[in-house]
Parts: sequence; structure tokens; C-alpha cells
Amino acid sequence: MNKLVEITKPLKIGYKKTCKCPKNHINCLTAKEWMQSQVAVWELYYEKRDIRDKNIHPAVFPIALPAKCIKLFTHEGELVLDPFVGSGSTLVAAQDLNRNAVGFDLKKDYIELTKSRLTQTRLGDAMQQIAIQDEAHNIPHYLEKETISLSVTSPPYANMLNRPKLNKSIRGNLRKNKHYLQVQQYSNDPRDLGTMEPIQYAKTLGGIYRGILPLMRPKAHCVINVTDLWWENKRIPVHVYVIQALEEIGFELRNIIIWDRRNLINQAGIFGWPSNYITLGTTFEYILDFWRPP
Ligand SMILES: C[S@@+](CC[C@H](N)C(=O)[O-])C[C@H]1O[C@@H](n2cnc3c(N)ncnc32)[C@H](O)[C@@H]1O
Repeated sequence: MNKLVEITKPLKIGYKKTCKCPKNHINCLTAKEWMQSQVAVWELYYEKRDIRDKNIHPAVFPIALPAKCIKLFTHEGELVLDPFVGSGSTLVAAQDLNRNAVGFDLKKDYIELTKSRLTQTRLGDAMQQIAIQDEAHNIPHYLEKETISLSVTSPPYANMLNRPKLNKSIRGNLRKNKHYLQVQQYSNDPRDLGTMEPIQYAKTLGGIYRGILPLMRPKAHCVINVTDLWWENKRIPVHVYVIQALEEIGFELRNIIIWDRRNLINQAGIFGWPSNYITLGTTFEYILDFWRPP
């Protein structure tokens, strides 16, 4: 869709609500829909449009994840940011839900992929979804202060993909599938968060969000999907590092939501038996919800 969009700095993109919801409502949900969203464990499903081929992109979240956040934290017409847009799932969700959105990624191929997933807009369509190839530290050059109503993303989980894939969560012979011992990193670019050790990763992530904070409206939500790592029999609590990094620069943690992924696992292998109790890391991920304090 942004084949036709001129990328200016700052961008010319709408950010004001176009619906008629009352002023004190943070979203367009009815009371009944709000109640259904209060459960802190989310079960999400991939749909046909979701990309499940790891050769196209190694770590795609379902469109349903940003869609749920967009419904919870924005009104129609408002502006959504995804600083690590990958294959563009957040922009697809924003297009479905009539929101403006901007997504950034270091890698040209992913930006092209994102553009190809957005359906052509018709003349007169008010909302825009724009994918930009740039490093996330540069986001403040593109967006004006206090215009973003929601930032939602899944950044790389530190250097989790940057090692040969052992497929430990898969059972027996199936483990040696075509991805076995492959390194599925996004890029070798030293600015890529996926190349960084967890501590440096959290510091860099904090630096990126320091630039994003003033672009967000007061009380705008900032959602980050991450998971912890196991590395040489030690648990690396990436979600704790991310919380510390974001709180240090002025975001406030509001909710911790568990993405229950048990519906996505089949034929799991056995871990640690019989002497070392280790839970299957792939069974859940964190959805950390912060806001810019009022
Ligand atoms: C987990 S993926 C995002 C996937 C996305 N949620 C989706 O559904 O397709 C993280 C993305 O961050 C990008 N990335 C890593 N470091 C970056 C940086 N410093 N600036 C911008 N993008 C970066 C990677 O290229 C990768 O596509």
C-alpha cells in the first residue's frame, strides 16, 4: 500500500480518532467485549493469512495478537506503531481494523514482504499503513510528539535464534527436520537486536524506547511480546530485563499477560527427565503491557 506513499520526515499520517465513542473511553469496545478481554491468559490462533514458513520469516506472531491489542488500546483512526514489524502482521491487523499504522524493520526483504501483505487501498481511503526500512533508533525522525496511541511489537528475543537450532521441544526422529542445526537469525547487522547478548540487548532496547516515549500520547499503551531463554541449563529471564529497561526510561508496567501457546504445540519431546525439571519454554510467552504515565 505504501508503494504510493511518499516517505517524508515527519510522515504525513493521521492519528486522531474518527469514531464517535465517548471521550473517556480508551477503545471502541462494548462493556461485554471489555469483560471478555479481562482474562490475563490469551489463547490465540494463526489464520490462513499468517506466515508460518520459517524460511520467509523465522518468528511471526499471529495477526490475532496485534489485533487484540489494537482493539483494546485504540479507537478507529488512531495511530499504531510497530518498531520491529518483521513480516508486517501488525500493519495487516491495523488495516483490518481501520487504524493508521507505521512499522519499521532493518531488513529490506521484510519491508517488501510487509508491503505485499497489505491489500491495495482504494482511492479515498483515509487510513494508511506504512512500512519503512530503517533502524528503530531513527523512529523519532518520522513521527511527531504525542501522536501514537499504541506501540505493539515482538522484538527479537535477544540472540535466541543466533545459534544452531536443536529442536529440543520436538519429539524423537521429528527433531531432525529441515531446520535442525540451522541458524535462523534475521541478519548479521550489528544493529540487529537478534545478534545481542541479553544484557546488551536490554540496554539497546531501552535506548530505542527512550526515543519512542515522547512520541506517545500520555496513557498510550506500549505492548512488548517476549519470551525467556534457556542457555546452558540456565534460565535467562529476558522479560525481567525488558521490564527493568522500560521502567528505567519512564514507561510504567500495567499488565503481564500470558500468551498460552499450548494449542500450537504438537508432539513435544521430553526435557530433563528424570533428574532435572525444566518446563517446556514453548508453552507460553509474555505479553508485557506498559503505558506512558499520565
Ligand atoms: C520477532 S521479529 C518481528 C516479527 C513480527 N511480529 C511479525 O509478526 O512478523 C523482529 C524483527 O525485528 C527486526 N529488527 C531487529 N533489530 C532491529 C532494529 N535495531 N531496528 C529495526 N528492526 C530490527 C528483525 O529484522 C525482525 O524482523
